[in-house]
Amino acid sequence: MTTISLPRLRERIETLARFGALPGGGVTRSCWSPPHEEARAWLVEQMREAGLEPWVDPAGNVFGGLGMSGFDAARPAVVTGSHIDTVPEGGILDGALGVLAGLEALHTIHESGTAHARPLAVAAWSDEEGRYGSLFGSRAFIGKLDPAQVPSMAAADGERLVDAMARAGFEASRAPEAAAPAGSVAAYVELHIEQGPRLEEAGIPIGTVEAIVGVRRSWVVFVGQADHAGTTPMERRRDGFLAAAEYALKARELVVKRGSGRSVTNFGVVHVHPGVGNIVPARGELLHEMREPDPAVLDKLFRECATLARRVARRRQVQVEIRPISATTPAPCAPRVQAAIDAAAAELGLATQHMYSAAGHDAQNLAAVTDAGMIFIPSKGGRSHRVDEMSDWDAIERGANVLVRSLLALAG
Ligand code: GLV
Ligand code: MN
Ligand code: MN
Repeated sequence: MTTISLPRLRERIETLARFGALPGGGVTRSCWSPPHEEARAWLVEQMREAGLEPWVDPAGNVFGGLGMSGFDAARPAVVTGSHIDTVPEGGILDGALGVLAGLEALHTIHESGTAHARPLAVAAWSDEEGRYGSLFGSRAFIGKLDPAQVPSMAAADGERLVDAMARAGFEASRAPEAAAPAGSVAAYVELHIEQGPRLEEAGIPIGTVEAIVGVRRSWVVFVGQADHAGTTPMERRRDGFLAAAEYALKARELVVKRGSGRSVTNFGVVHVHPGVGNIVPARGELLHEMREPDPAVLDKLFRECATLARRVARRRQVQVEIRPISATTPAPCAPRVQAAIDAAAAELGLATQHMYSAAGHDAQNLAAVTDAGMIFIPSKGGRSHRVDEMSDWDAIERGANVLVRSLLALAG
């Protein structure tokens, strides 16, 4: 049976970690940035050396094909992959693991001459972390990137997607052309670190993902009145920041109390305007994120938070505007892919735990067009989206071997 080479996979993971490496450990490699583009060029070369046919689509997705050089409904492919972009000050495995384990799986299959009825491909989906838009590359691939939205897509710091892509040599208006022909993907399976503590705490080596959360992000903007911070009596102030602060605390409480128990929320970006010490803030802007695996609960929480924002604004005599910026749909994973993962783990003598993913992944987009699923391995200390994110190399080897077997089972 085909077995992956951990030393080669480890060397590739450690090499990729050098693109955008931070002095104290970890990595910052946002999509379209210079280190990301250097990593992309390196990845294409690695694919070629592994005997795969590499290509890059108009949305910046990188593919390496085995028995294919493009997507074709006449020969549906089994696809694996993940992403090589990272969050700022992120770790070396979130995304890189799934791409490089997928590459190693296909490299091993190619080298060993293992037969597979369906063509195989490994993908590095662009901008998974959503700097410019949630799950951008896989969204374009499934035909859900709205061309009308592309010109206005921008990062939280204001940088426009059009400019970032142009710098990297891509034309943003052409990204929707990345849509793959209907029926050209037979199945999708992605390996990822869990990014949470559940597998490690249970002492289980492999997670079989049953569903992936939906994520909603909105700007919640409270607009009051700028005033002199010394002379304006306290009771006359219409402070945009304090309205935002009150909303943040109350929305957290609402999501915890009225959610499903799995519902979570976060305020990751706060802008205060004009942003100086001697002016009462005219405006407080929050980037509000909510996650939940049940679409109905997510909808309910979104509506209730909007009502709360209006109530806080009214009481504090400010205005509020809610600008939704992205919404991904919670997605169930296909029973057929879950069964392939369970069977592969069982062949290797590895216990599995069925679980939902509390992080977003490209697999949830792929689930809209094909049977999709995910394999999780434990994260050390449950840590992720931080520089010390890690797993054990043995756990990585186990995950990659479950991946290669699952791929072969799905490819027939
Ligand atoms: C992706 O990493 C996410 O934010 O869930
Ligand atoms: Mn991530
Ligand atoms: Mn990821």
